[in-house]
Amino acid sequence: MTPDEFRRYGHAVVDWIANYHSRIESFPVLSQVKPGEVRASLPANPPLHGESFDAVLRDVENLILPGVTHWQSPNFFAYFPGNASGPGILGDLLSSGLGVQGMLWSTSPACTELETHVLDWLVTMLGLPEKFLSSRTGGGVIQDTASSAALCALLAGRERATNYVSNKKGCDGRIVAYVSTQTHSSLQKAAMIAGIGVDNLRSIAVNENFAMRPDALARQIETDKRAGLVPCFVCATVGTTSSNAMDPIPEIARVAQHHNLWLHVDAAMSGTAALCPEFRHLQNGVELADSYNFNPHKWMFTNFDCNSFWVADRKALIQTLSILPEYLRNQATESGAVIDYRDWHIQLGRRFRSLKLWLVIRHYGVEGLQHHIRRHVELAQQFASWVRSDQDFELAAPVPLNLVCFRHKAGDAANQSIMDRLNRSGDLFLTHTKLNGQLTLRLCVGQTNTQARHVERAWKRIREEAEKLTTNA
Ligand SMILES: Cc1ncc(COP(=O)(O)O)c(C=O)c1O
Repeated sequence: MTPDEFRRYGHAVVDWIANYHSRIESFPVLSQVKPGEVRASLPANPPLHGESFDAVLRDVENLILPGVTHWQSPNFFAYFPGNASGPGILGDLLSSGLGVQGMLWSTSPACTELETHVLDWLVTMLGLPEKFLSSRTGGGVIQDTASSAALCALLAGRERATNYVSNKKGCDGRIVAYVSTQTHSSLQKAAMIAGIGVDNLRSIAVNENFAMRPDALARQIETDKRAGLVPCFVCATVGTTSSNAMDPIPEIARVAQHHNLWLHVDAAMSGTAALCPEFRHLQNGVELADSYNFNPHKWMFTNFDCNSFWVADRKALIQTLSILPEYLRNQATESGAVIDYRDWHIQLGRRFRSLKLWLVIRHYGVEGLQHHIRRHVELAQQFASWVRSDQDFELAAPVPLNLVCFRHKAGDAANQSIMDRLNRSGDLFLTHTKLNGQLTLRLCVGQTNTQARHVERAWKRIREEAEKLTTNA
């Protein structure tokens, strides 16, 4: 493809994306295809000869689009959001256009330095502790996902607790780590990958608000130590996936410090709320954490993938993950004056992800970002107030931010039926969880363009489906 052809097709693709976003509300939010349907529409074999770009774009429209669940629809209320924005998409395009692989500072200095700079900006924007700044003992790095960030934190905690011996000799089955029953499943995966093993990952009990109980954590650590085990790590969550519960970080940190555990704080979605000073109390205690992460790719308008991960002591992370083969040696690295991000995560190669984050922050400005976050929280709170005052529905958990956990009082089958019918209708997309053993519906407001009318319609549709329950009964 010549630069001129690229320009022509590039315009066509940007036009297609802009049109897609303009008509996004006309699609069923949850894709309605059956398993195998997309593949059945594709040719069995790859083309022997190159095809025209127009034909490919036509297939995107006709074959791919029906199999897309529209995460960028303002009627998407499922899971946690994975919101995107014009500047985020264009930042990703610029990154692809430059085609940079930034494993070392020297393989593209701008890729490293913009990332360090934007992550330092975010420390201030989110009211995070100064120890996370690159000018202090810590620093930030962009990971692909919160799962990878958690794995890196766990590895660093494991190494610190074993004096960097487990990297050499492997784990001896005595290393234990702590999460709550509500912690994201990525921590289980991390324990498997880190060689700690899920049997050595303790799921600490939670209180009536689904937040980790520090007393139970302290007791479990004492028990494990008496049994000759080596506690190394605890993960506290700001906004659990199931119900947006807030773990008490200061109390957990006190226990962690007493036993010299690495404290990781996972604020995957809710961390974005800290852009607004009035929500920062939810992350109180983060100044005591060894590491912290949140996903701009969830709620901060930066299209997937983009996780921001900070450590208080970068030396511990680098000592855990650094390997320097001869073929990567270079003067800049030897000088010690640069950051080589390959030492800050699992993989070697890395994309220029900070571009999209930079574009998003510059496009919206701090005030613009705050405006959208406040709007989402207000809309969710409004929805929660409708649930609270409805005789057929109830809230199933506190609503600190933009996630509402609620259910119809008629029980699991009724809630399942309401959700299935809504999702089949394509009007909106909701998902569920189980809280205290009961099926619970989750409505999360976080898509970039969700407005009052979308949330009002969601509630109207939920009510309509609930009324059908009594009519059909
Ligand atoms: C609290 C929490 N942690 C971690 C994750 C995993 O996110 P990722 O897909 O970035 O690995 C999620 C995903 O929803 C989450 O809610």
